[in-house]
Amino acid sequence: MDVRRIVVIGAGTMGAGIAQVGAQAGCRVRLCDVSDEMIERGMTTIRRMLDKGVERGKVTEAQRDETLARVETSTDMRAAATDVDLAVEAVPEQMQLKQQIFRALDEACPPGAFLASNTSSLSIDEIASVTGRPERVVGMHFFNPVPIMKLLELVRGERTSEETIAAAQALGERMGKTTITVRNAPGFATSRLGLVLGLEAIRMVEQGVASAADIDTAMTLGYAHPMGPLRLTDLVGLDVRLSIAESLHERLQSEAFRPPELLRRMVAEGKLGKKTGHGFYDWND
Ligand SMILES: NC(=O)c1ccc[n+]([C@@H]2O[C@H](COP(=O)([O-])OP(=O)(O)OC[C@H]3O[C@@H](n4cnc5c(N)ncnc54)[C@H](O)[C@@H]3O)[C@@H](O)[C@H]2O)c1
Repeated sequence: MDVRRIVVIGAGTMGAGIAQVGAQAGCRVRLCDVSDEMIERGMTTIRRMLDKGVERGKVTEAQRDETLARVETSTDMRAAATDVDLAVEAVPEQMQLKQQIFRALDEACPPGAFLASNTSSLSIDEIASVTGRPERVVGMHFFNPVPIMKLLELVRGERTSEETIAAAQALGERMGKTTITVRNAPGFATSRLGLVLGLEAIRMVEQGVASAADIDTAMTLGYAHPMGPLRLTDLVGLDVRLSIAESLHERLQSEAFRPPELLRRMVAEGKLGKKTGHGFYDWND
């Protein structure tokens, strides 16, 4: 089934981006959140990203206007979901909250609709378990900023059907993304590999092997990574990294994911990275 109508739940950092790329792919999109204020914040993000696209010559003014015209907003998720082909959930990373949303979406969406979660670390099977259609549930893990990052990691749950994966792949391509498909293993491919590198870099700072800047330069110049692991940790947020490390340490039973003491200490001191002005770098200047 070709996806033409999408409802996006959560108009935050990721939901706004997903709504934008969905509309740019030609879909009619409804963007939902709990309040008008949150929705306005999401719409402002979309307008700003599209304006930047116009400035850089990547998007024409007509494309920007057409994209915006394809996005509707709502604070009534159930009403917004009644005629969609796909619902994409992008609410905060809490299992209970995601299950609550999926239960409601399962009731509100047409029986043939696909349900996707943008979770970066939670189990798709556990999310799907509260629905009556686990074969139509899939992980669609986008990256921040969504309109710019090329990757879309699709997560195949134990019961996800081939039809569901094919529909997600086709939509991803229309959005201009390259898709990879990963089994529902903890941390999928991206969070698991990216985290190992980030945690080891923190252990190296802790052990005085080199400065944060030199460790980052090792990876940018030595391995052609676009950004070093510590700078990336600052952008993602040290608190976010810590909570994913704790979860993967427990679920994978691997010492590679044990959170370094330095990470715990920095989080306790409120050094969460760019968002608080301090992390492995000083972001105030
Ligand atoms: N930020 C990233 O870099 C990133 C990258 C990949 C995946 N993710 C994942 O995407 C998801 C969303 O992350 P985010 O960074 O966009 O979070 P965010 O906090 O920016 O946005 C979440 C939004 O969900 C809304 N929300 C909360 N409860 C709701 C409800 N019941 N109904 C409707 N809306 C509700 C909030 O008001 C908020 O606007 C998480 O699962 C996260 O792990 C985030």
